[in-house]
Amino acid sequence: MHSSPAMAGSEHNNNSSEVMNMPIAKAVLDPVLDPLETASIDELRQHQLDRLRWSLNHAYNNVPLYRQRFDALGVHPDDIKSLEDLAKFPFTTKNDLRDNYPYGMFAVPMNEVVRLHASSGTTGKPTVVGYTQNDIDTWANVVARSIRAAGGRRGDKVHISYGYGLFTGGLGAHYGAERLGCTVIPMSGGQTEKQVQLIKDFQPDIIMVTPSYMLNIADEIERQGIDPHKLALRLGIFGAEPWTGELRSAIENRLGITALDIYGLSEIMGPGVAMECAETKDGPTIWEDHFYPEIIDPITGEVLPDGQMGELVFTSLSKEALPMIRYRTRDLTRLLPGTARPMRRIDKITGRSDDMLIIRGVNVFPTQIEEQVLKIKQLSESYEIHLYRNGNLDSVDVHVELKAEHQHLSDEQQKAVCGELSRHIKTYIGISSRIVLQPMHSIKRSEGKACHVMDKRPKA
Ligand code: DLL
Repeated sequence: MHSSPAMAGSEHNNNSSEVMNMPIAKAVLDPVLDPLETASIDELRQHQLDRLRWSLNHAYNNVPLYRQRFDALGVHPDDIKSLEDLAKFPFTTKNDLRDNYPYGMFAVPMNEVVRLHASSGTTGKPTVVGYTQNDIDTWANVVARSIRAAGGRRGDKVHISYGYGLFTGGLGAHYGAERLGCTVIPMSGGQTEKQVQLIKDFQPDIIMVTPSYMLNIADEIERQGIDPHKLALRLGIFGAEPWTGELRSAIENRLGITALDIYGLSEIMGPGVAMECAETKDGPTIWEDHFYPEIIDPITGEVLPDGQMGELVFTSLSKEALPMIRYRTRDLTRLLPGTARPMRRIDKITGRSDDMLIIRGVNVFPTQIEEQVLKIKQLSESYEIHLYRNGNLDSVDVHVELKAEHQHLSDEQQKAVCGELSRHIKTYIGISSRIVLQPMHSIKRSEGKACHVMDKRPKA
């Protein structure tokens, strides 16, 4: 038997008396600010502890894998006396989901699962995630909360270019924007010309899209001769892939909007696990009342103190269909103290441990290259990293484009641009690279999550 997390005091529960006194339409359109968003740290920690007990019990009682793993380690959900005790419990990984494909880690009967999503990954079976109606509700609430934290309000028009379908981006953003009372334009990804036509004609206030696809749309806005500053767009809610502060500035300047960072992953929910707040713009605030974060040393698994870099691990506190206990995200970041909210923040994600390139023994994240490319004003924001092996040595080509207004540069001047980038990459990252200048628009543009790396080295 599984019980509802409402027993442990859920968002809906806390607000239910207020919501119930409201006409239904108003309650849906104008969700009451969750008191937990501004609760004191002590209240929040107590709430997390209650929910953690519920979630561990729910997992233990309903998912054989969790029961076996907890028993094997000699831990029981009732052992949880403090949040720190969570460290005694085993981790969960993407492989666990794959090994139990498709529904083996679900904690409720299938007739309570109202939605499935899946991520394809690069190899093997997809990772399948499921949601009960309460999960879908919680998700809509955290995304509504995220859009509100970004400065979105009821009545705003929201253009959604995250892909709809098995990917959580489109539908996750959609339900949240509706929950906040926005007018949703469910465009999905692709059809870039049409994206721009709708942005011009429907005049959305907010766009939700991957930052790399935003660049592609910005190119198309320019190509159609539209002045982006005359559009109604004022806010972009960007995520689903790592992106740098430099890219934020580039997007903000090109489009005249505020660009904020939304983080999430399907295994834990989808978009809206954490959201950067408009007033501080200092990294995503984790909605800690639903998702309990830890940072661990990726090698030893030891929990690291706040402020130290490591791998982000989440435990779901309210999820019914697919409880996740100490799920290893592979995302590298650190926990920072709350600013706009008492809840903690994550630092901008440098990258996933899987994305880390080892080039002649140096660890490199594609975002480090992005940072250097975007510092050179003659270059567009598009880049590709090509890796190959020359004899025993790794070689790196960084393909970049000259912006249209710099196409006329002489050979000498082009050489100087390449030299500058190559020097910066050597100084700041520590690797030698060859820079390949390509004509504007010749690097493949993204329509979702960007792929910046072509690794042509023989597999070990
Ligand atoms: O990408 C969910 C999402 C959709 C988030 C739309 C934000 C907006 P997955 O496809 O499961 O889910 O991929 C999750 O994407 O573990 C990170 O590596 C990466 N990621 C997501 N958001 C960010 C971000 C969605 N803001 C994986 N910054 C995560 C950096 C991000 N990386």
